[in-house]
Amino acid sequence: MAAMSPIMNIMVKAAEKAGRNLSRDFGEVENLQVSRKGPANFVTAADKRAEEIIFEELKKARPTYSFLMEESGEVKGEDTDYVWIIDPLDGTHNFMHGIPHWCISIALEVKGRIEAGLVYDPIKDEMFRAERSGGAFMRSQRLRVSSRNNFESAFIAFGSAMDNKNYAEYANEFTKIAHIAPNLRRFGAAALDLAYVAAGRLDGYWERGLHPWDAAAGVLILKEAGGFVSSIDNEENPVYSRNIVAGNQPIQQDLKKALKSLSKEKAA
Ligand code: IPD
Ligand code: CA
Ligand code: CA
Repeated sequence: MAAMSPIMNIMVKAAEKAGRNLSRDFGEVENLQVSRKGPANFVTAADKRAEEIIFEELKKARPTYSFLMEESGEVKGEDTDYVWIIDPLDGTHNFMHGIPHWCISIALEVKGRIEAGLVYDPIKDEMFRAERSGGAFMRSQRLRVSSRNNFESAFIAFGSAMDNKNYAEYANEFTKIAHIAPNLRRFGAAALDLAYVAAGRLDGYWERGLHPWDAAAGVLILKEAGGFVSSIDNEENPVYSRNIVAGNQPIQQDLKKALKSLSKEKAA
């Protein structure tokens, strides 16, 4: 494995511990599919437990740092310059339906800038990670975005957040992009979508309605793998802009241009 800093070691340890628990719970989900109540409550409990594990591990290692977590929200520590941004289970609906495509996402933000990020898929045991200026890795393998530059044949993922009600906007965007680049995929775990672009498995990705915990780690991993990522509509930090367009350089540019041209049509 490529050398890891002490901070990344802490993150990996926390993710692996929570990952073991989630994997065990995932094994139970199939049995629950047939029960009348379904697995929803069980999954919520698994999600919260995973967050607690990560919280405990990180707190133990860095007692003063602050937290921004999907389930428990903000927890301010003595030191508010250092913030762990955590999604303990990204791809919850896949998890609930017994689909093995979900992950844990942990990022460390220092004075408003993401310094370290990790996206861990425990089922495939794929640990994507990056530290700022240190490159991106999956275990010891260096990650690099794809070199495909033909938009028409690009392999592009998109997302449609369940809490976003702008269905017409989705339909328009999907129709527009599908006409140009028909190889679209909707995998259901935003952090893995970003990691897959970093690994060159996907050439591009876009989504509206994201939260910082979906994007923080994946954005750094992607950038460190030579990828490009920005907000779709403005110059905001893509971790916080809630809408995101990512890819290798040419595909990100083409995708962004196509999505922006729709916003312009709407405004006209
Ligand atoms: C969701 C997943 C999904 C994306 C949504 C996210 P969750 O996260 O990443 O792929 O489309 O925007 O909210 O709820 O499974 O943690
Ligand atoms: Ca998420
Ligand atoms: Ca989640």
